[in-house]
Amino acid sequence: MYSEKVMDHFMNPRNQGEITEADGVGEVGNPTCGDIMRIFLTVKDNIITEVKFQTFGCGAAVASSSMATEMIKGKTLEEAWEVSNKAVAEALEGLPAIKMHCSVLAEEGIHKAINDYRIKHGLEPWVEKNPH
Ligand code: FES
Ligand code: FES
Repeated sequence: MYSEKVMDHFMNPRNQGEITEADGVGEVGNPTCGDIMRIFLTVKDNIITEVKFQTFGCGAAVASSSMATEMIKGKTLEEAWEVSNKAVAEALEGLPAIKMHCSVLAEEGIHKAINDYRIKHGLEPWVEKNPH
């Protein structure tokens, strides 16, 4: 049921772990299944120089976080904010329809981590354009 890309990122997740002194941290839960994802960011001059994730969830959630962290590393905060769960799912060569919700965790986790960074720096949090 999963693409080769999903299996690859599930079996060999990229950027898994924790940044102890992260500049921004986002924790989100999936209300349908109770699974949890955390995203940690290091930000220098508005660029995401380091990103790690911890996901306690299904294979699609692990693969989505792994792919999403690869997609935002080296990006500006504005560019990272635009990375949608659909783009993550496409980069994974598709997710089964019933697993699309799992990829939403990655988008929301990144958004929360970016806003955590912004709030810590006295900036207005950005608003979700397409709330899930
Ligand atoms: Fe919970 Fe996928 S089933 S995140
Ligand atoms: Fe399922 Fe947005 S993709 S709520």
